[in-house]
Amino acid sequence: MSNLHCGIDFGTSNSSAALARDGNARVLDLDPLNVNPTSLPSLLYIQDDGQQIIGRAAADSFIKRNVDREVIVKQVDLGVAIDGYVGGEGDNSYGVVQRKDGADLTEAVFARALIEVNSPGRLFQSLKTSLRLKAFTGTEVFGREYQIEELTSIILSKIKARVDAEAGEPVDTAVFGRPVRFSTNESEDKTAERRLETAAKLAGFKDIVFFYEPVAACVEYAVKSDHKQRLMVVDIGGGTFDVCIMEFGGAQGAAARLAESKILGVSGLPVAGDAIDREMTRVKVFPCFGSESRYGPSMLPVPQFLYNTILDWQNLYKLNTEENINWLIAMQMSSDQPELIRALRSLVQRNYGYPLSREVEAAKRRLSSVTETTIDLEFEAIHLHEPIGRGEFAHIIEDMLEDMLDTMKEAEIAAGLKPHQIDGILTTGGTSLIPAVRQMLVQRYSEDRLHHRDTFTSVAAGLAIVSSFMSEIA
Ligand SMILES: Nc1ncnc2c1ncn2[C@@H]1O[C@H](COP(=O)(O)OP(=O)(O)OP(=O)(O)O)[C@@H](O)[C@H]1O
Ligand SMILES: [Mg+2]
Repeated sequence: MSNLHCGIDFGTSNSSAALARDGNARVLDLDPLNVNPTSLPSLLYIQDDGQQIIGRAAADSFIKRNVDREVIVKQVDLGVAIDGYVGGEGDNSYGVVQRKDGADLTEAVFARALIEVNSPGRLFQSLKTSLRLKAFTGTEVFGREYQIEELTSIILSKIKARVDAEAGEPVDTAVFGRPVRFSTNESEDKTAERRLETAAKLAGFKDIVFFYEPVAACVEYAVKSDHKQRLMVVDIGGGTFDVCIMEFGGAQGAAARLAESKILGVSGLPVAGDAIDREMTRVKVFPCFGSESRYGPSMLPVPQFLYNTILDWQNLYKLNTEENINWLIAMQMSSDQPELIRALRSLVQRNYGYPLSREVEAAKRRLSSVTETTIDLEFEAIHLHEPIGRGEFAHIIEDMLEDMLDTMKEAEIAAGLKPHQIDGILTTGGTSLIPAVRQMLVQRYSEDRLHHRDTFTSVAAGLAIVSSFMSEIA
């Protein structure tokens, strides 16, 4: 290969790629349709005719073809007996029967599945999160079985094609980023890395090296510094919160500085932007679809599984059976908030879960630049106009901020350092733009030590630089 070196950041929400020559990295344009073309939304849409679309176009295709159309679902008998766990809490999944006596027992039942008869395509998002889930090995899409590695490789192979075109030759070697912890469970963590490696190989890469994403995010900054310093990198993306404390600098030349750099302590949490979106939906959106309403002569609460399905919008269509819709209509007629149950029915019948999730995420992003916003969705019977301010938002994510703080303290303990002994805090990743997150960092480390790296591309650029020094630091 020429003296071009490749770094790939396969992110939960966004992916990027960079090529480096002589230690200088250039981040590639991967998605011309995205507001920021260097950032490719990690989305995959597979159409019923087998066509595979990635990035912003995948989201657009899903909205154009799958949203706001009649959904016809059919129950099919899978014809196998499976064990269903019967817990104290109601479970709406098929293959599980609730014991009438409420005892925690396992019963064998016949598995059935709901399938959509006329689906024009399937959208996959946050595939990186699924890499760690051993129970999720793959899924059937229009009669063809796709392994999780294969789904991931579809996105990676399109990135590789772009890298090859830019390099003017096939690029076989790449440094891939990985979070400090795909999962807090070690075996899940290994599974995720192994699957990502297989996906990269399926995409055509031959030599793959993994490197911590937060370390990569500070490489570009750190190799330029000629004095020794201790840096903490905080990378908060869509799926993972990563912290890494390093000692850098001092040696002559960038390669030597990288070779002599030391990781003093790392920690991580598989919780970030996606989890924040879910919490915001629970608190602000569920009540707008009647989660606190009551119905019937006994004024019963509405079953909460209906709302959890809103979070799992990919499976929202499964609620769209004639039986459920009739039940929602009956519930609406006897509800103390009929217009909200009507809105819930629209959401289910028109398959509007994805546009709703996008609006919640967009409102969250708006709150990073304005102090007040409204979660707005006007469609059919849905009249969602829910105001939210920064203070309330900070309160909603309070527990997650606590967990993040604990994770930073864990890294400090691993490094054997007190907060004042860290010379600089480098932040990156979309979720680091949230003012409450920044405030937490300022409180612990003071404003003058915070340095923000490029939000979406610092990891890929750093990985490419690491790749270019690989032969010297190996
Ligand atoms: N201005 C903003 N304010 C708050 N959150 C934001 C903002 N911009 C993006 N985000 C959030 O940042 C996340 C995406 O960040 P990023 O692209 O760094 O993640 P990623 O690299 O794909 O994920 P990971 O590193 O966890 O695998 C999303 O949850 C998105 O909603
Ligand atoms: Mg990231």
